[in-house]
Amino acid sequence: MQKIRKSMNKKEILDLLNCKNEPEALYAKAREVRNSTIGNYVYLRGLIEISDICRKDCYYCGIRRSNTKAERYTVSKEDIVAIAVTAWEKEFGSVVLQGGERNDDEYVTWIEDVLRSIKEATRNELGITLSLGEQTEDTYKRWFDAGAHRYLLRIETSNETLYNRLHPNDNVHSFATRLEALHNLQKVGYQTGSGVMIGLPFQTLDNLADDLLFLRSSDIDMVGMGPYLEHEDTPLYVCRNELLSLSERLQLSLRMIAVLRLLVPDLNIASTTALQSIDPQGREKGLLAGANVIMPNMTPVNDRRKYRLYQNKPFSEESTDKQIGILSKNITDCGCRIALNQWGDPQHFKNRRK
Ligand code: 5AD
Repeated sequence: MQKIRKSMNKKEILDLLNCKNEPEALYAKAREVRNSTIGNYVYLRGLIEISDICRKDCYYCGIRRSNTKAERYTVSKEDIVAIAVTAWEKEFGSVVLQGGERNDDEYVTWIEDVLRSIKEATRNELGITLSLGEQTEDTYKRWFDAGAHRYLLRIETSNETLYNRLHPNDNVHSFATRLEALHNLQKVGYQTGSGVMIGLPFQTLDNLADDLLFLRSSDIDMVGMGPYLEHEDTPLYVCRNELLSLSERLQLSLRMIAVLRLLVPDLNIASTTALQSIDPQGREKGLLAGANVIMPNMTPVNDRRKYRLYQNKPFSEESTDKQIGILSKNITDCGCRIALNQWGDPQHFKNRRK
């Protein structure tokens, strides 16, 4: 493998993304860089998919507004708080509240109330990450003041032309607004996460190299990226025969994780559910490629199958205890250690503030 430099340029990134024959050396290097920069701890975030009601109509996503087949649900405040308390008792550092995008007043106020209630029920100890889409700066501020300290908002692709092909051409789905939202999150003070989908129709390796450079230059603290997976009730399904094979999408996603770890060693990088839906060992493979965060699903079992962003999304009905049991073993097998009872702030955020 060629020599790896942190200040890699685009050509070097492309060569690494292309190194089909020897990814093992790349993964080993990524693990080494992770372990020597932030250690071999894996942080757990309890994922609660709080609602699949969404005002957006993204062409790739199963919970898009126009999908009349999606069964819409919202988890009650009481249930969200109870799950958060379980996560706290199990010594997860934090939870992620993820859901479709809604920006009506009632919802914004409800989230604020949910946040305060979680904080109160967990003696202010549990970290809270939100993943609730584009909101105004004022809403981000209100939710920050109510106790959220991290926010995930994927850019999906950093290429504006490709972005426009994946979203309706209107002012609800604007690349500029997405960029501005990311900027506002950083301004308000959130630890900010972003990420992209890998193996999208029309996407090139060149686009993916640009995505990695975008994540580095926008000073993101956390990244979640995973393979694009088709969904039969979405417009993008017509492109299903033009995609890379599932196994190629998995391999490419793992290479993206590894190269990003080399580019920005102090990031928190999640090993995502989408990896697991291609390969039951996908999340472990993500750790072996340099990721350091896993998000066990804590959504109420009845709702899990409804939060269907893409086809074949794994929705195990395993209890949190059973998931932790399996995960601890798998994490140790990957040469990592579970970090309990810690927020697990990205080192990048601390370095950014110095
Ligand atoms: N395949 C993979 N990921 C998807 N997401 C939405 N739809 C799909 C899909 N079909 C991802 C988007 C979004 C996140 C919550 O889920 O990146 O930001």
